[in-house]
Amino acid sequence: MPKIDVSFILLSVLCLIVGIAMGIVMGAAHDFTFTPVHAHLNLLGWTSLALFGLVYKSYPALKNSWLANTHLILSGSTAVIFPVGIYVSIAHQNPALAIAASFVALAGILVFFANLVRVFFFAEKATPTAEEALA
Ligand code: HEM
Repeated sequence: MPKIDVSFILLSVLCLIVGIAMGIVMGAAHDFTFTPVHAHLNLLGWTSLALFGLVYKSYPALKNSWLANTHLILSGSTAVIFPVGIYVSIAHQNPALAIAASFVALAGILVFFANLVRVFFFAEKATPTAEEALA
């Protein structure tokens, strides 16, 4: 998937927009019940997804595998579903979705790790050419 870095970064900023809006509402209302939702949307969503995007941009060889797309699906979906699960857990005392999403989140990181190992130790060319870096 050639534009996987762009997909990660766009999704990360969407999470940041919602995360910041939520922070403003929480602050204005002086109601911090859902602070963990805000925190995880910002940290799993904005910071983690943006970092993934920058790593794919720095090492374009990571894009040359189905592992990249799988990583986007697993980490991108759980950046949203896990905070929703935390909301359900707090509001309805039902942690099932958060628990399930946390395992999917872990699976995403394991796929990312496998792709990094593939590129750093087994691929022919891990360092991007000037053209690839600018793509
Ligand atoms: C304008 C942007 C933001 C606003 C208005 C905002 C607002 C808030 C508020 C009101 C709280 C609750 C504080 C409390 O419980 O006393 C909070 C907690 C938190 N925020 Fe934000 N936030 C913003 C951006 C961010 C970003 C960008 C991140 C991470 C990248 C972040 C991560 C966290 C974390 C981890 C907590 C939990 C802190 C704790 O419980 O000790 N926030 N935020």
